[in-house]
Order: sequence, then structure tokens, then C-alpha cells
Amino acid sequence: MIIRKWLYTDVSSVFKIEKESFSDAWTKEMISDTFIQDNFIGFVAEENEKVIGYIALTYCLDEAEINIIAVTRDFRRKGVASALLNATYEALLSSGIDKIFLEVRKSNKSAQNLYKKHGFTVIGVRPKYYKGIEDAILMRKDLKE
Ligand SMILES: CC(C)(COP(=O)(O)OP(=O)(O)OC[C@H]1O[C@@H](n2cnc3c(N)ncnc32)[C@H](O)[C@@H]1OP(=O)(O)O)[C@@H](O)C(=O)NCCC(=O)NCCS
Repeated sequence: MIIRKWLYTDVSSVFKIEKESFSDAWTKEMISDTFIQDNFIGFVAEENEKVIGYIALTYCLDEAEINIIAVTRDFRRKGVASALLNATYEALLSSGIDKIFLEVRKSNKSAQNLYKKHGFTVIGVRPKYYKGIEDAILMRKDLKE
């Protein structure tokens, strides 16, 4: 597996994984619009030249937010998301960004476990954030700790 920076040509592969991963998946336009923002950081994981996972963040000053992260089903639980997160920490620190925030569905225990394993802590809850039904758990990690 290799981790490399996200290129514009990855949008279709990312969209495919996004659709299989989320009931409220980002559209191709949302993905490409985020990619062209000046404050975008993104990585993909590749196996045999095929994209198997991705992470996208946007940042402002010293804070970044994880917008999307997913791994294709066949490659889950093999350390792909962890490798994407580790690459992200390095890139953020070298740009002077040391705080990461994210929102995760209350029911998404696999993702919460991933973030807890990576030292994220719960800092709050946004009630009924998803479609007016499901709570969002807010999490944060300080890279300098
Ligand atoms: C959440 C997700 C990105 C994890 O990706 P992954 O590559 O499988 O994660 P890793 O293999 O790096 O797992 C690291 C740790 O996360 C936790 N974890 C990951 N998947 C898990 C699962 N299904 N059940 C419980 N814990 C899980 C474990 O602590 C795991 O460590 P371990 O394997 O040593 O026990 C992946 O399941 C996915 O794409 N899900 C659908 C999209 C999604 O929910 N994205 C997050 C939105 S906030």
C-alpha cells in the first residue's frame, strides 16, 4: 500500500468509495469543489494502482477539520485509515496546524474506535445533526500533546 497526495484525477475513485460507505454520501461536485479549495489537504491510499481509501480535510489558521474519510470494504481493518491519519498528522504539523476536529455519527462505533485509538477525545454532541435524527459526536485531537 502507498499513501500519496490526493490528485484531481482521484475524484471518481473517491466518489465510488464514498457511495458504498455513506447513506448521505458527498456528490462528485462536493468532492471536486472541496479539492480545489486553497485550504484543502487530502491523501489517498493505493494498492496495485487502485484507490482503496481517502481522507480530506480543510483548515483555517492552526485548526483542521476532517471532512471525509473512508476505506473500501475489502480493505477495512487492515490499517488503511490509520496510515491515512498518520500521513495527515505529518502534513498538518509541517504546515503549523496542530488541532484536528471532526464530527461522527453516534451509531458509527467503528469510526469512533478508530479516532479513540488515535487519541481523539469527545468534546461535545450536536443533537439531531444528521437529517434532524441522529446526534453527531464532536471529537478533537491536539497533535502537540
Ligand atoms: C471507519 C473506517 C474509515 C476505518 O477504516 P480502517 O482502514 O478499517 O481502519 P483501521 O484498520 O486503520 O483500524 C484502526 C482501528 O480502528 C478501530 N476500528 C476500525 N474498524 C472497526 C470496526 N469495524 N469495529 C471496531 N473497531 C474498528 C479499531 O480500533 C482498529 O484497530 P484494530 O484493528 O487494531 O482493533 C472504515 O470502517 C470505513 O471506511 N467506514 C465507512 C466510512 C466511515 O464511517 N467513515 C468515518 C466517518 S466519520
